[in-house]
Amino acid sequence: MMLWEILLVKGAGALAVLIAFAGTAFLLRFLYGPKGKFREAAWDEVSGVDRLRVAPHSGFEGEEALRAAFLEYAGTFFSGESRDDAPLRLKADHSFRVLRYAEEIAGQEDAFADAGMARALRLAALFHDVGRFEQFRRFRTFADEFSCNHALLGAGILRERKFLADEARKTRGLVLAAVAAHNRFSVPKNLSGSVGPVLFGLRDADKLDIMRIMADNLAPGERGDGTVLLHLRDEPERCSPLVFRALREGRTALYRDMRYVNDFRILLCSWLYDLHFPAAYRIVRREGHLHSVIDGCDALPELQNDLRVFVDAFLSKGRAGSAITLNCSEEKVDVQA
Ligand SMILES: [Fe+2]
Repeated sequence: MMLWEILLVKGAGALAVLIAFAGTAFLLRFLYGPKGKFREAAWDEVSGVDRLRVAPHSGFEGEEALRAAFLEYAGTFFSGESRDDAPLRLKADHSFRVLRYAEEIAGQEDAFADAGMARALRLAALFHDVGRFEQFRRFRTFADEFSCNHALLGAGILRERKFLADEARKTRGLVLAAVAAHNRFSVPKNLSGSVGPVLFGLRDADKLDIMRIMADNLAPGERGDGTVLLHLRDEPERCSPLVFRALREGRTALYRDMRYVNDFRILLCSWLYDLHFPAAYRIVRREGHLHSVIDGCDALPELQNDLRVFVDAFLSKGRAGSAITLNCSEEKVDVQA
């Protein structure tokens, strides 16, 4: 064979290999790339921050610089390793979603008719978890119980880094107070002054988005993320009587009483006792995240049924309508807890 013939054959072979590579890459992109047929929805979820960056929502004029400052600060904690960064991205994404829920609440409740109050709520929502990044860097967990109070840490960071330096003194005070107290187990319902509505609005918005995140982690067929589920034991047929007792007695369950993944489901339902604004209940009803969470509790059908009945009754008739619906006994839920 002549030299030019050998080169031609080799060249054609290389071209064929190149085309095969390109075809495979295109096929994989088509199947698994953004909006691909077999694309894992969670992959798009963790990149939500980037989407929010390029698509700022309306009604937030004059606050873009603070959103950018928040993102820039959060970005300093990312390592570039997707596994390490995923929990942090989730928190950044959560902050913007809480902001959106807060805006929705502010738009529907008279307490935020004053533009300054609405602004304080928006800023509190954006920055409420700013302490999470430092918390995770230091302790590799979001469980306050095993690390530090992320709300107080966040308020300290807001002050130290002067994020709110250009805000009116009153706004700054409201935001700092709301951020510092947003994770308190309970807040007096008659909290006086302007801080009450801001704190309640923030707490409602925060809970609404945690319900959404948990629906992503606890719906049927989901393999929950260990960090998000606070490293609770994944034993589908078990739940703790303390958490269930709180729900039955009309109280919000305590994080520290949770031992199993199912306890998180019960705790989320018990948050219905602690939402403040009617707008928040309307959002719970509309989004259906609690139902998704309960659907994933199929290894304990009696508990699952109770939770469904409880949530439906609460959302249609309010607290009074829910009081008589819990029938599952502690003996039945107390499985070696
Ligand atoms: Fe928080």
